[in-house]
Amino acid sequence: MTKNYRVTLLPGDGIGPEIMAVAVDVLNIVGKKFDINFEFQEALIGGAAIDATGEPLPSATLDTCRNSDAVLLAAIGGYKWDSLPNHQRPEAGLLGLRAGLGLFANLRPAQILPQLIDASTLKKEVVEGVDIMVVRELTGGIYFGKPRGIFETETGERRGVNTMVYSESEIERIGRVAFEAARKRRGKLCSVDKSNVLDVSQLWRECITKLGKEYPDVELTHLYVDNAAMQLLRAPKQFDTIVTGNLFGDILSDAAAMLTGSIGMLPSASLGATGAGVFEPVHGSAPDIAGQDKANPLAQVLSAAMMLRYAFNEKAAADCLENAVLDVLQRGYRTGDIMSPGMDLVGCRAMSAALINSLGGI
Ligand code: IPM
Ligand code: MG
Repeated sequence: MTKNYRVTLLPGDGIGPEIMAVAVDVLNIVGKKFDINFEFQEALIGGAAIDATGEPLPSATLDTCRNSDAVLLAAIGGYKWDSLPNHQRPEAGLLGLRAGLGLFANLRPAQILPQLIDASTLKKEVVEGVDIMVVRELTGGIYFGKPRGIFETETGERRGVNTMVYSESEIERIGRVAFEAARKRRGKLCSVDKSNVLDVSQLWRECITKLGKEYPDVELTHLYVDNAAMQLLRAPKQFDTIVTGNLFGDILSDAAAMLTGSIGMLPSASLGATGAGVFEPVHGSAPDIAGQDKANPLAQVLSAAMMLRYAFNEKAAADCLENAVLDVLQRGYRTGDIMSPGMDLVGCRAMSAALINSLGGI
């Protein structure tokens, strides 16, 4: 029997529409192979939504997402909207989507593919075999804490304020996701905080340590965030699963991404306790190359694979998409961001054609 999934597509800005088109094409092909029908509906977010409606996250978009089985997002943002106040910027649309759908858990896998070892800026022996899962808390911390804003003091000077805040229950629920993820991987969890300075991090460490008692099979360690950043570059293979707050996770997941050669390769899943998850590349909208057929669509395709795996439990279809990505790399196709000598430089459309070709053969 054909399965039917309602997927909201949020192409967003910059290279977003180009890479989304690739993901839709390959999903349709994989769907045919595995008897899956995707009911796609497109909605506006980010700069595209600001231009059309004046708001980065129109309520119609949130409604559409809530009424779907999963959301596939490409990227948001661009120079054009950079001077707007924070709450009107494209980024506010993304943050509103995360908050609106209750997506507190962000999974960002950083795995080095053998085909791309030469694309990493680090030495081969340092990055070979790297396989890290960053579990980032996504709806709390300094991104959402109050008070926030730019306030005028009595002297007329302005003060900018943000507040890093975590409650015990917020720490526990992201901790559980991370311990469960570690259990399914190599059984190691590193919690990253700044508990030598921040009170909020002291509570974080206390709660994660307490939770760890329920997971005696998972080896729990703790690192301060500065040391974690250093260790990620020095000896990344020591990491299996990392759990951390919103801001530290934002920063460390970019660093982890670069170990693999290019942020253009990395997918992510944002999940809540129930309801539709959002699947999106870790990279941004790359406005400098938008519309030039230069974008790497592979992180978007891998995000679609994560959607198949995590939202729909369609393991075979997810494997098929991931294998197609490995196959095009094996055949030497490279977009500019992952190019290395002797490989075949292609644009976004040619990469798409190569993927489609691989899918025919897998
Ligand atoms: C990310 C991005 C976002 C974030 C921006 C675009 C708001 O950097 O998903 O990592 O900071 O969370
Ligand atoms: Mg980021």
